[in-house]
Amino acid sequence: MRMKDQLELQYRELVENANSIILRLDIKGNITFLNKYAQNFFGYSRDELLGKNVIGTIVSPVDVSGRDLKAMMDDIISRPDRYIENENENMLRSGQRVWISWTNKAILEEDGRVREIFCVGNNITKLKQAEEEILKAKEAAESANRAKSSFLANMSHELRTPLNAIIGFSELMKEESVGGLNDKQKEYLGYVWESGKHLLSLINDILDLSKVEAGKMELELSEFDLKELFKKSLAFVSDKAMKKSVTLLTDAKEGVEKVEADERKVKQALFNLLSNSMKFTPDGGKVGIEAQKTSNGEILVCVWDTGIGIEPQDNQKVFSEFEQISSDYSRQYAGTGLGLPLSKKFIELHGGKMWFESEGKDKGTRFYFTLPVRQT
Ligand SMILES: Nc1ncnc2c1ncn2[C@@H]1O[C@H](COP(=O)(O)OP(=O)(O)OP(=O)(O)O)[C@@H](O)[C@H]1O
Ligand SMILES: [Mg+2]
Repeated sequence: MRMKDQLELQYRELVENANSIILRLDIKGNITFLNKYAQNFFGYSRDELLGKNVIGTIVSPVDVSGRDLKAMMDDIISRPDRYIENENENMLRSGQRVWISWTNKAILEEDGRVREIFCVGNNITKLKQAEEEILKAKEAAESANRAKSSFLANMSHELRTPLNAIIGFSELMKEESVGGLNDKQKEYLGYVWESGKHLLSLINDILDLSKVEAGKMELELSEFDLKELFKKSLAFVSDKAMKKSVTLLTDAKEGVEKVEADERKVKQALFNLLSNSMKFTPDGGKVGIEAQKTSNGEILVCVWDTGIGIEPQDNQKVFSEFEQISSDYSRQYAGTGLGLPLSKKFIELHGGKMWFESEGKDKGTRFYFTLPVRQT
Protein backbone atom coordinates (compact mmCIF):
# COMPACT_ATOMS: atom_id res chain seq x y z
CA MET A 1 0.00 0.00 0.00
CA ARG A 2 1.24 3.46 -0.82
CA MET A 3 2.26 5.79 2.01
CA LYS A 4 -0.56 8.22 1.20
CA ASP A 5 -3.23 5.52 1.21
CA GLN A 6 -1.93 4.18 4.48
CA LEU A 7 -2.12 7.58 6.09
CA GLU A 8 -5.64 8.06 4.79
CA LEU A 9 -6.69 4.72 6.20
CA GLN A 10 -5.30 5.71 9.57
CA TYR A 11 -7.23 8.97 9.56
CA ARG A 12 -10.39 7.21 8.46
CA GLU A 13 -10.07 4.73 11.33
CA LEU A 14 -9.51 7.57 13.75
CA VAL A 15 -12.66 9.38 12.65
CA GLU A 16 -14.79 6.25 12.40
CA ASN A 17 -13.83 4.96 15.80
CA ALA A 18 -13.89 8.25 17.69
CA ASN A 19 -16.27 8.30 20.63
CA SER A 20 -17.88 11.49 19.35
CA ILE A 21 -20.41 12.33 16.71
CA ILE A 22 -18.58 13.49 13.59
CA LEU A 23 -20.51 14.96 10.67
CA ARG A 24 -19.93 17.01 7.57
CA LEU A 25 -22.64 19.15 6.05
CA ASP A 26 -22.81 20.98 2.75
CA ILE A 27 -24.00 24.56 2.53
CA LYS A 28 -27.61 23.45 2.17
CA GLY A 29 -27.43 21.50 5.41
CA ASN A 30 -27.29 18.13 3.71
CA ILE A 31 -25.25 15.45 5.40
CA THR A 32 -22.17 14.47 3.37
CA PHE A 33 -20.44 12.34 5.98
CA LEU A 34 -21.21 10.72 9.34
CA ASN A 35 -19.00 8.40 11.35
CA LYS A 36 -20.00 5.06 12.90
CA TYR A 37 -20.58 6.58 16.29
CA ALA A 38 -23.08 9.06 14.77
CA GLN A 39 -24.92 6.25 12.99
CA ASN A 40 -25.30 4.29 16.21
CA PHE A 41 -26.14 7.34 18.22
CA PHE A 42 -28.89 8.67 15.97
CA GLY A 43 -30.13 5.18 14.98
CA TYR A 44 -29.71 5.49 11.20
CA SER A 45 -27.49 3.65 8.71
CA ARG A 46 -25.07 5.68 6.64
CA ASP A 47 -27.20 5.36 3.48
CA GLU A 48 -30.31 6.52 5.25
CA LEU A 49 -28.71 9.85 6.11
CA LEU A 50 -26.21 10.61 3.35
CA GLY A 51 -27.54 13.41 1.16
CA LYS A 52 -30.44 14.08 3.57
CA ASN A 53 -30.97 17.43 5.20
CA VAL A 54 -30.33 17.63 8.94
CA ILE A 55 -33.71 19.32 9.40
CA GLY A 56 -36.33 16.63 9.68
CA THR A 57 -33.76 13.91 10.38
CA ILE A 58 -31.41 14.65 13.27
CA VAL A 59 -32.66 18.18 13.92
CA SER A 60 -36.31 18.97 14.48
CA PRO A 61 -37.44 22.29 12.88
CA VAL A 62 -38.42 23.54 16.34
CA ASP A 63 -37.10 22.30 19.68
CA VAL A 64 -39.32 21.46 22.69
CA SER A 65 -38.90 24.98 24.09
CA GLY A 66 -40.06 26.49 20.78
CA ARG A 67 -36.62 27.59 19.56
CA ASP A 68 -36.51 27.79 15.75
CA LEU A 69 -33.76 25.28 14.90
CA LYS A 70 -34.24 25.63 11.15
CA ALA A 71 -33.32 29.31 11.41
CA MET A 72 -30.39 28.34 13.63
CA MET A 73 -29.12 25.83 11.04
CA ASP A 74 -29.39 28.43 8.27
CA ASP A 75 -27.39 30.79 10.41
CA ILE A 76 -24.74 28.19 11.24
CA ILE A 77 -24.24 27.50 7.53
CA SER A 78 -24.06 31.15 6.53
CA ARG A 79 -21.94 32.30 9.48
CA PRO A 80 -20.14 29.25 10.89
CA ASP A 81 -17.53 31.42 12.63
CA ARG A 82 -20.25 32.50 15.09
CA TYR A 83 -20.98 28.90 15.99
CA ILE A 84 -17.53 27.53 16.78
CA GLU A 85 -19.21 26.18 19.90
CA ASN A 86 -22.93 25.60 20.08
CA GLU A 87 -25.36 23.68 22.26
CA ASN A 88 -28.70 22.66 20.83
CA GLU A 89 -31.37 20.01 20.96
CA ASN A 90 -31.15 17.16 18.46
CA MET A 91 -33.45 14.28 17.63
CA LEU A 92 -32.88 10.51 17.45
CA ARG A 93 -34.61 8.26 14.95
CA SER A 94 -37.00 7.18 17.72
CA GLY A 95 -38.11 10.79 18.11
CA GLN A 96 -36.33 11.11 21.45
CA ARG A 97 -34.82 14.55 22.09
CA VAL A 98 -31.19 14.87 23.18
CA TRP A 99 -28.86 17.77 23.92
CA ILE A 100 -25.55 17.94 22.07
CA SER A 101 -22.60 20.21 22.51
CA TRP A 102 -21.19 20.91 19.04
CA THR A 103 -17.97 22.37 17.75
CA ASN A 104 -18.23 23.53 14.16
CA LYS A 105 -15.57 24.41 11.66
CA ALA A 106 -16.01 25.77 8.15
CA ILE A 107 -14.12 24.06 5.36
CA LEU A 108 -13.39 26.73 2.74
CA GLU A 109 -13.04 26.74 -1.04
CA GLU A 110 -9.84 28.20 -2.48
CA ASP A 111 -11.67 31.51 -3.03
CA GLY A 112 -12.72 31.62 0.63
CA ARG A 113 -16.34 30.58 0.24
CA VAL A 114 -17.68 28.01 2.65
CA ARG A 115 -17.75 24.57 1.06
CA GLU A 116 -18.70 22.39 4.02
CA ILE A 117 -19.10 22.47 7.77
CA PHE A 118 -17.23 19.98 9.89
CA CYS A 119 -19.13 19.21 13.11
CA VAL A 120 -18.06 17.27 16.20
CA GLY A 121 -20.69 16.63 18.86
CA ASN A 122 -20.96 15.18 22.33
CA ASN A 123 -24.08 14.09 24.17
CA ILE A 124 -24.75 16.40 27.15
CA THR A 125 -28.35 15.40 27.78
CA LYS A 126 -27.67 14.17 31.32
CA LEU A 127 -25.80 17.35 32.15
CA LYS A 128 -28.67 19.46 30.82
CA GLN A 129 -31.20 17.47 32.83
CA ALA A 130 -29.11 17.88 35.98
CA GLU A 131 -28.82 21.60 35.27
CA GLU A 132 -32.57 21.87 34.85
CA GLU A 133 -33.19 19.98 38.07
CA ILE A 134 -30.82 22.23 39.97
CA LEU A 135 -32.57 25.27 38.53
CA LYS A 136 -35.98 23.90 39.52
CA ALA A 137 -34.74 23.04 43.00
CA LYS A 138 -33.28 26.52 43.34
CA GLU A 139 -36.55 28.15 42.29
CA ALA A 140 -38.49 25.91 44.68
CA ALA A 141 -36.12 26.77 47.52
CA GLU A 142 -36.34 30.47 46.78
CA SER A 143 -40.10 30.43 46.69
CA ALA A 144 -40.22 28.39 49.91
CA ASN A 145 -37.89 30.90 51.50
CA ARG A 146 -40.08 33.80 50.43
CA ALA A 147 -43.12 31.99 51.80
CA LYS A 148 -41.25 31.39 55.05
CA SER A 149 -40.31 35.05 55.37
CA SER A 150 -43.83 36.28 54.79
CA PHE A 151 -45.24 33.61 57.11
CA LEU A 152 -42.83 34.71 59.82
CA ALA A 153 -43.62 38.37 59.31
CA ASN A 154 -47.36 37.67 59.60
CA MET A 155 -47.03 35.26 62.50
CA SER A 156 -44.78 37.60 64.41
CA HIS A 157 -47.48 40.23 64.26
CA GLU A 158 -50.16 37.75 65.35
CA LEU A 159 -47.96 36.60 68.22
CA ARG A 160 -47.04 40.03 69.43
CA THR A 161 -50.58 41.28 69.91
CA PRO A 162 -51.63 38.74 72.58
CA LEU A 163 -48.16 38.87 74.08
CA ASN A 164 -48.46 42.58 74.69
CA ALA A 165 -51.62 41.89 76.68
CA ILE A 166 -49.83 39.24 78.75
CA ILE A 167 -46.89 41.54 79.46
CA GLY A 168 -49.01 44.63 80.10
CA PHE A 169 -51.57 43.04 82.41
CA SER A 170 -49.09 40.92 84.35
CA GLU A 171 -47.07 44.06 84.97
CA LEU A 172 -50.13 45.95 86.23
CA MET A 173 -51.05 43.04 88.52
CA LYS A 174 -47.60 42.39 89.94
CA GLU A 175 -47.28 46.08 90.83
CA GLU A 176 -50.56 45.71 92.70
CA SER A 177 -52.19 48.50 90.69
CA VAL A 178 -55.41 46.49 90.66
CA GLY A 179 -55.41 45.06 94.18
CA GLY A 180 -53.15 43.44 96.76
CA LEU A 181 -51.32 40.13 96.25
CA ASN A 182 -49.57 37.66 98.50
CA ASP A 183 -45.83 36.97 98.00
CA LYS A 184 -46.27 33.80 95.95
CA GLN A 185 -48.77 35.48 93.62
CA LYS A 186 -46.35 38.35 93.16
CA GLU A 187 -43.44 35.99 92.49
CA TYR A 188 -45.37 33.96 89.96
CA LEU A 189 -46.67 37.03 88.15
CA GLY A 190 -43.07 38.17 87.99
CA TYR A 191 -42.23 34.97 86.10
CA VAL A 192 -45.14 35.50 83.72
CA TRP A 193 -43.93 39.04 83.04
CA GLU A 194 -40.26 37.99 82.61
CA SER A 195 -41.13 35.13 80.29
CA GLY A 196 -43.42 37.36 78.27
CA LYS A 197 -40.64 39.90 77.83
CA HIS A 198 -38.19 37.18 76.81
CA LEU A 199 -40.62 35.74 74.28
CA LEU A 200 -41.25 39.20 72.86
CA SER A 201 -37.55 39.87 72.30
CA LEU A 202 -37.25 36.49 70.64
CA ILE A 203 -40.13 37.22 68.31
CA ASN A 204 -38.63 40.60 67.52
CA ASP A 205 -35.32 38.93 66.59
CA ILE A 206 -37.07 36.45 64.32
CA LEU A 207 -39.06 39.24 62.70
CA ASP A 208 -35.91 41.31 62.17
CA LEU A 209 -34.03 38.38 60.69
CA SER A 210 -36.81 37.54 58.24
CA LYS A 211 -37.04 41.21 57.30
CA VAL A 212 -33.33 41.40 56.56
CA GLU A 213 -33.54 38.15 54.58
CA ALA A 214 -36.47 39.40 52.55
CA GLY A 215 -34.43 42.54 51.79
CA LYS A 216 -37.04 44.69 53.48
CA MET A 217 -34.91 46.03 56.32
CA GLU A 218 -33.97 49.64 55.80
CA LEU A 219 -31.45 51.80 57.59
CA GLU A 220 -32.65 54.83 59.51
CA LEU A 221 -29.55 56.94 59.55
CA SER A 222 -28.83 59.66 62.06
CA GLU A 223 -25.76 61.27 63.57
CA PHE A 224 -24.95 60.25 67.13
CA ASP A 225 -22.11 60.02 69.63
CA LEU A 226 -20.69 56.52 69.93
CA LYS A 227 -19.36 57.26 73.42
CA GLU A 228 -22.90 58.03 74.59
CA LEU A 229 -24.14 54.82 73.00
CA PHE A 230 -21.45 52.89 74.90
CA LYS A 231 -22.74 54.34 78.17
CA LYS A 232 -26.33 53.38 77.37
CA SER A 233 -25.31 49.87 76.34
CA LEU A 234 -23.18 49.31 79.41
CA ALA A 235 -26.08 50.42 81.60
CA PHE A 236 -28.01 47.41 80.26
CA VAL A 237 -25.47 44.96 81.63
CA SER A 238 -24.27 46.82 84.71
CA ASP A 239 -26.70 45.00 87.04
CA LYS A 240 -25.48 41.65 85.87
CA ALA A 241 -21.85 42.79 86.03
CA MET A 242 -22.34 43.77 89.66
CA LYS A 243 -23.88 40.40 90.53
CA LYS A 244 -21.04 38.52 88.82
CA SER A 245 -18.31 40.92 90.00
CA VAL A 246 -17.33 41.46 86.38
CA THR A 247 -15.35 44.64 85.72
CA LEU A 248 -16.64 46.74 82.80
CA LEU A 249 -14.10 48.82 80.88
CA THR A 250 -14.46 51.31 78.03
CA ASP A 251 -11.85 52.87 75.85
CA ALA A 252 -13.16 55.18 73.14
CA LYS A 253 -10.47 57.05 71.22
CA GLU A 254 -10.75 60.48 69.63
CA GLY A 255 -12.86 60.69 66.50
CA VAL A 256 -15.76 58.46 67.49
CA GLU A 257 -17.96 61.24 68.82
CA LYS A 258 -19.75 61.72 65.53
CA VAL A 259 -20.99 58.63 63.80
CA GLU A 260 -23.62 58.42 61.10
CA ALA A 261 -25.47 55.13 61.29
CA ASP A 262 -28.74 53.49 62.32
CA GLU A 263 -28.49 54.00 66.06
CA ARG A 264 -31.08 51.39 67.02
CA LYS A 265 -29.33 48.67 65.02
CA VAL A 266 -25.83 49.53 66.19
CA LYS A 267 -27.16 49.59 69.74
CA GLN A 268 -28.72 46.18 69.32
CA ALA A 269 -25.50 44.75 67.89
CA LEU A 270 -23.51 46.22 70.77
CA PHE A 271 -26.03 44.97 73.30
CA ASN A 272 -25.95 41.44 71.84
CA LEU A 273 -22.15 41.36 71.92
CA LEU A 274 -22.07 42.71 75.46
CA SER A 275 -24.66 40.29 76.75
CA ASN A 276 -22.76 37.39 75.14
CA SER A 277 -19.57 38.57 76.82
CA MET A 278 -21.38 38.81 80.15
CA LYS A 279 -22.99 35.41 79.66
CA PHE A 280 -19.79 33.62 78.69
CA THR A 281 -17.47 35.24 81.23
CA PRO A 282 -17.17 33.59 84.63
CA ASP A 283 -17.48 35.58 87.86
CA GLY A 284 -14.64 37.96 88.54
CA GLY A 285 -13.68 38.39 84.88
CA LYS A 286 -13.48 41.46 82.67
CA VAL A 287 -15.61 42.76 79.81
CA GLY A 288 -14.78 45.82 77.74
CA ILE A 289 -15.64 47.97 74.72
CA GLU A 290 -13.11 49.77 72.60
CA ALA A 291 -13.55 52.08 69.63
CA GLN A 292 -11.23 53.94 67.34
CA LYS A 293 -11.05 55.50 63.92
CA THR A 294 -8.86 53.52 61.53
CA SER A 295 -6.42 55.04 59.04
CA ASN A 296 -8.98 54.71 56.25
CA GLY A 297 -11.57 56.56 58.29
CA GLU A 298 -13.70 53.60 59.36
CA ILE A 299 -14.88 53.19 62.91
CA LEU A 300 -13.58 49.98 64.46
CA VAL A 301 -15.42 48.70 67.53
CA CYS A 302 -14.32 45.81 69.71
CA VAL A 303 -16.25 44.05 72.48
CA TRP A 304 -13.87 41.84 74.40
CA ASP A 305 -14.01 39.56 77.41
CA THR A 306 -11.86 37.23 79.48
CA GLY A 307 -14.45 34.44 79.24
CA ILE A 308 -14.66 30.86 78.02
CA GLY A 309 -13.34 31.66 74.53
CA ILE A 310 -14.20 30.01 71.23
CA GLU A 311 -12.26 27.08 69.85
CA PRO A 312 -11.16 27.20 66.19
CA GLN A 313 -13.41 24.29 65.15
CA ASP A 314 -16.48 26.26 66.25
CA ASN A 315 -15.77 29.28 64.08
CA GLN A 316 -18.40 28.37 61.48
CA LYS A 317 -21.18 27.91 63.99
CA VAL A 318 -20.87 31.21 65.76
CA PHE A 319 -22.60 33.34 63.12
CA SER A 320 -25.14 30.70 61.98
CA GLU A 321 -28.79 31.11 62.90
CA PHE A 322 -30.02 29.04 65.83
CA GLU A 323 -26.54 27.60 66.32
CA GLN A 324 -24.89 27.43 69.67
CA ILE A 325 -21.63 25.79 70.42
CA SER A 326 -22.86 22.79 72.27
CA SER A 327 -19.82 21.68 74.15
CA ASP A 328 -20.66 20.47 77.64
CA TYR A 329 -19.22 23.68 78.92
CA SER A 330 -21.50 26.07 77.06
CA ARG A 331 -24.68 23.98 77.08
CA GLN A 332 -25.44 25.42 80.47
CA TYR A 333 -25.99 28.89 78.95
CA ALA A 334 -29.46 29.92 77.88
CA GLY A 335 -30.12 31.42 74.45
CA THR A 336 -31.48 30.75 71.00
CA GLY A 337 -28.48 31.49 68.83
CA LEU A 338 -30.06 34.45 67.01
CA GLY A 339 -28.06 37.24 68.64
CA LEU A 340 -24.90 37.07 66.54
CA PRO A 341 -26.39 36.36 63.09
CA LEU A 342 -28.74 39.28 63.56
CA SER A 343 -25.99 41.60 64.82
CA LYS A 344 -23.78 40.66 61.89
CA LYS A 345 -26.59 41.34 59.42
CA PHE A 346 -27.27 44.74 61.00
CA ILE A 347 -23.62 45.70 60.65
CA GLU A 348 -23.45 44.39 57.08
CA LEU A 349 -26.51 46.46 56.18
CA HIS A 350 -24.30 49.46 56.97
CA GLY A 351 -21.60 48.10 54.66
CA GLY A 352 -19.50 47.05 57.66
CA LYS A 353 -18.01 43.73 58.72
CA MET A 354 -18.18 41.62 61.87
CA TRP A 355 -15.70 38.95 62.97
CA PHE A 356 -14.04 37.64 66.09
CA GLU A 357 -10.73 36.47 67.44
CA SER A 358 -10.15 34.00 70.22
CA GLU A 359 -7.07 32.11 71.23
CA GLY A 360 -9.20 29.17 72.35
CA LYS A 361 -10.85 27.69 75.40
CA ASP A 362 -10.82 29.98 78.44
CA LYS A 363 -8.64 32.51 76.62
CA GLY A 364 -11.41 35.10 76.18
CA THR A 365 -12.93 36.43 72.96
CA ARG A 366 -12.71 39.68 71.00
CA PHE A 367 -15.62 40.51 68.68
CA TYR A 368 -14.96 43.29 66.16
CA PHE A 369 -17.14 45.27 63.84
CA THR A 370 -16.56 48.17 61.48
CA LEU A 371 -18.81 51.01 60.42
CA PRO A 372 -17.77 52.66 57.18
CA VAL A 373 -17.71 56.42 56.88
CA ARG A 374 -20.67 57.87 55.09
CA GLN A 375 -20.45 60.68 52.57
CA THR A 376 -22.85 63.37 53.63
N1 LIG B 1 -18.20 36.20 73.99
C1 LIG B 1 -18.35 34.90 73.74
N2 LIG B 1 -17.55 33.98 74.34
C2 LIG B 1 -17.69 32.66 74.06
N3 LIG B 1 -18.59 32.13 73.20
C3 LIG B 1 -19.42 32.99 72.59
C4 LIG B 1 -19.34 34.41 72.81
N4 LIG B 1 -20.28 35.01 72.05
C5 LIG B 1 -20.93 34.02 71.39
N5 LIG B 1 -20.42 32.81 71.70
C6 LIG B 1 -20.85 31.49 71.17
O1 LIG B 1 -21.60 31.73 69.96
C7 LIG B 1 -22.93 31.20 70.09
C8 LIG B 1 -23.89 32.04 69.33
O2 LIG B 1 -24.09 33.31 69.94
P1 LIG B 1 -25.47 34.05 69.78
O3 LIG B 1 -25.40 35.36 70.45
O4 LIG B 1 -25.82 34.04 68.34
O5 LIG B 1 -26.47 33.08 70.51
P2 LIG B 1 -26.83 32.94 72.05
O6 LIG B 1 -26.18 34.01 72.85
O7 LIG B 1 -26.53 31.53 72.43
O8 LIG B 1 -28.40 33.12 72.03
P3 LIG B 1 -29.21 34.51 71.88
O9 LIG B 1 -28.21 35.60 71.63
O10 LIG B 1 -30.12 34.29 70.75
O11 LIG B 1 -29.90 34.64 73.18
C9 LIG B 1 -23.17 31.16 71.60
O12 LIG B 1 -24.15 30.20 71.93
C10 LIG B 1 -21.80 30.80 72.12
O13 LIG B 1 -21.62 29.42 72.02
MG1 LIG C 1 -26.35 36.03 72.32
